[in-house]
Amino acid sequence: MCGIIGYIGDKCAADILISGLSHLEYRGYDSSGVALMHGSEIDIYKASGKLINLIEILKTKKAVTSISNIGIGHIRWATHGLPTTANAHPHTCTCKSLTLVHNGIIENYQELKEDLLKEGCIFRSETDTEIAAHLIASEYGKTLDLLEAMQNAVKKIKGAFAFCAIHKNEPDKIVVAKRNAPLVLGVGNGENYIASDIPAIIEYTKKAIYLSDYQVGVITKNDIKIYDEKGKLIPNKIEYMPFEAMAISKLGYKHFMIKEIHEQSDVVRNNLQGKLIEHNKPIKLDDFKLSSSDIKKLSRIQIIACGTSLHAGLVGKYIIEKYAGIPVDVEASSEYIYRETIADKNTLVIGISQSGETADTITAIKQVKEKKSHIAIITNRADSTMARLADSLIPVNAGIEVSVAATKSYMAQLISLYLLAIYLNEAKGIKEYKEEIARLKQELIELPNKIEALLENTSEIQRVAKKYSSYKNFIYIARGINLATALEGALKLKEISYINATGYGAGELKHGPIAMLDENMPVLAILNTGIVYDKVLSNCEEARARQAKLIGVTNYISEKDRALFDDLIMIPDASDILSPALNIIVLQLLAYYIAEYLGKDVDQPRNLAKSVTVE
Ligand code: M6R
Repeated sequence: MCGIIGYIGDKCAADILISGLSHLEYRGYDSSGVALMHGSEIDIYKASGKLINLIEILKTKKAVTSISNIGIGHIRWATHGLPTTANAHPHTCTCKSLTLVHNGIIENYQELKEDLLKEGCIFRSETDTEIAAHLIASEYGKTLDLLEAMQNAVKKIKGAFAFCAIHKNEPDKIVVAKRNAPLVLGVGNGENYIASDIPAIIEYTKKAIYLSDYQVGVITKNDIKIYDEKGKLIPNKIEYMPFEAMAISKLGYKHFMIKEIHEQSDVVRNNLQGKLIEHNKPIKLDDFKLSSSDIKKLSRIQIIACGTSLHAGLVGKYIIEKYAGIPVDVEASSEYIYRETIADKNTLVIGISQSGETADTITAIKQVKEKKSHIAIITNRADSTMARLADSLIPVNAGIEVSVAATKSYMAQLISLYLLAIYLNEAKGIKEYKEEIARLKQELIELPNKIEALLENTSEIQRVAKKYSSYKNFIYIARGINLATALEGALKLKEISYINATGYGAGELKHGPIAMLDENMPVLAILNTGIVYDKVLSNCEEARARQAKLIGVTNYISEKDRALFDDLIMIPDASDILSPALNIIVLQLLAYYIAEYLGKDVDQPRNLAKSVTVE
């Protein structure tokens, strides 16, 4: 969380920093600030609240801010200290010669602060970041060199950081450092850029240098110099950034979330391309590097992920266990880290992450990597930290996802897991399910058209959203493979409308949650024709008998059963096994329209950030 940006060149730095921060808002949006260098002076502007507040301040100072061509900026997601102006970055040292922005958490900040207080430093905020400003300034006092000061300071810091620092005495450079937080350098012509993520700079350059952990860099107008942990200068490795500026525009939609929901048919098409050609041909998965003989030796699979990606993992468990016959555990990364997990060379560990930067998942993957298990990473960011840890990198190609609530990336993760499950089945030469798998492949090929049919007319979902938008609590129920859909649908509603929605296995209702049911607790049931259809229907009867309002999401309902429901949302016909890919779209839309109807900030819900880079 938190986004940082830097610019050095001939253009108006303030404009570039603000434009960059607006593309980093998904990383945090509780306060922001910029520091602009002109001559050997540094001016700092900060504001609490949304970025617009900082923009308003800068408008009134245009005459001063427009002359600066060097600057750093920050958008914050508070960890230490309230989201006030005082706690907003940039932070400075006592004499305000050094100014810095930071993404990450300094774990030993208390300890460092005690030493710095003894040196006479004056603290002006409650943040851990300010400690770094004082520490680097203290080192600068010894070396009178910003690069060396940064190199010495980061050796004393425990935790995660991406730093951008400027100093009045060296006004022609920005010094950066990174450990366990993303940082990309944009290479321009007579200008250079620094950012937490590509969208912030993609409109200016496509050339990038990705800083690695423990590296420190010096960026000037015409040069980028990167040093390794030992201080040795290393050659620059320039890569091309994988996105187009177009991808970060709303293209006429009111919110990114609804645009991204509508992109899901193309996301499926992209994902299937080159992998699933015809229903009677084997899946091609060149990204997956385990040989057939290694696959046959696999004794277990562990899926590690958080939030929405964790829910995709639950669908993955269901289909991999069924088609590949390998036991699968799915666990939240934050829990996986703090227990003795059993994994060895015959374990396949699958990390799933939209951003590829989720700190809990990165830590879990690093931990299990030592056990020699094969690590497959399913991610939407092939340029991410997690991608770099992969033995098999499976990019999901959903295109950049801006809305904090994940939608199309979930769809892309599901498709990757369907393909992987079938691939494992075929690699193991399992004869069982041959016909079912051929049908599933055909259905996957037809899925984009079904998604388009579903999205063509959303008026019924909008009507239901409006009808239920005043309820304060919801229960979502499902069984089997759609249990994950219930959990994910409830998470979507919570995230963007702040309504308390909880997903349960429908069979669990009677073991406790049923106590909460009355006319004020709507129950949304997902029922798809298949082995659990009748069971879920019985669970709906139980809810109905407690006077709960019932919303059904289904591909089929008999005339007789129709009367059980207050409202019914039909999806195009689908097999039970593939129905999560259609049902979830209904739940995404329901959450979206409820939040929109309530006037919530759909793309930037309170307290959340798109990329959770703290444990
Ligand atoms: O980038 P990741 O997929 O690793 O992120 C995991 C969760 O933080 C994320 O899915 C979160 O739950 C989203 N806000 C879901 O909409």
